[in-house]
Amino acid sequence: MKTEERSRLIELLRKLIYELTGNYYPDERMKILEYKLERLLKETGLESSSPEEIISFFMRTPERRKQLINLMTVPETRFFREREQLEVLFDVVLKGRSFLDMGSVGCSTGQEPYTLAMMMKRRNISGKVVGMDVNEEVLEKARRGVYKASEIKDIPEEYREFVAVENGLLEIRKDIKRMVEFRSVNLIEPESFASLKGRFDVVLCRNVLIYFDTKSKEIALSNLRSSLRKGGILVLSSTEILGKEFYHLFEPFKEDRFFFYRRT
Ligand SMILES: C[S@@+](CC[C@H](N)C(=O)[O-])C[C@H]1O[C@@H](n2cnc3c(N)ncnc32)[C@H](O)[C@@H]1O
Repeated sequence: MKTEERSRLIELLRKLIYELTGNYYPDERMKILEYKLERLLKETGLESSSPEEIISFFMRTPERRKQLINLMTVPETRFFREREQLEVLFDVVLKGRSFLDMGSVGCSTGQEPYTLAMMMKRRNISGKVVGMDVNEEVLEKARRGVYKASEIKDIPEEYREFVAVENGLLEIRKDIKRMVEFRSVNLIEPESFASLKGRFDVVLCRNVLIYFDTKSKEIALSNLRSSLRKGGILVLSSTEILGKEFYHLFEPFKEDRFFFYRRT
């Protein structure tokens, strides 16, 4: 494909991914998009098609749109990511709670919701965790709950009892798996949240909205807000700060050195 065609395709894809998921690729992240694009063209055998043909190929059926979403979202995650923030959440913000209904939006391959379930179990907190993502490929792996040794090594020693060895595979223990359910949810589609209205005590949405622009962030935050009960708490990554323009939806408060956000 000629350089000119290639840049036209990248622009069209950037627009499409934004419309489908709210993820905006700024110029500095275009390198990632280009790398993913190469993979995508190889996988679909579309290397010699025109940019317009490639786009209409992906728009033709819901399955192909999903395939594009799976390729274009960033699934990086790990068990006990920002563990200190989670400890402050459970041991300070939620201190004394014996039941919790938690959500993890943008849960990727499941490490975050399973981490929450393990932390609940060790603290004798009963309840449920719902892991949600727009990428159905990562949700499949999350549901299996089978991980490589290199992924399991992020689980602190005192939590390793929650991983079982089943037929030589490292699998999340059944009682932890039973606490967690996975759902396909798109942060920018209010319909995705229709059955979740006022459900959660806490929703985590960490390292997801960093890829959104102000407009798609506003839509996503309104949907997250609708899934929280009154006074419910939103947790972003500690490196993400919610701007004042969103204070009509969430009110920030600080515990230890971490910001959390309460539904207004
Ligand atoms: C970088 S991972 C973060 C995983 C985890 N929350 C963590 O902090 O380790 C971002 C995840 O957000 C998901 N995501 C992106 N856009 C989304 C959307 N519109 N709705 C739901 N999930 C989305 C991606 O598919 C990806 O799995």
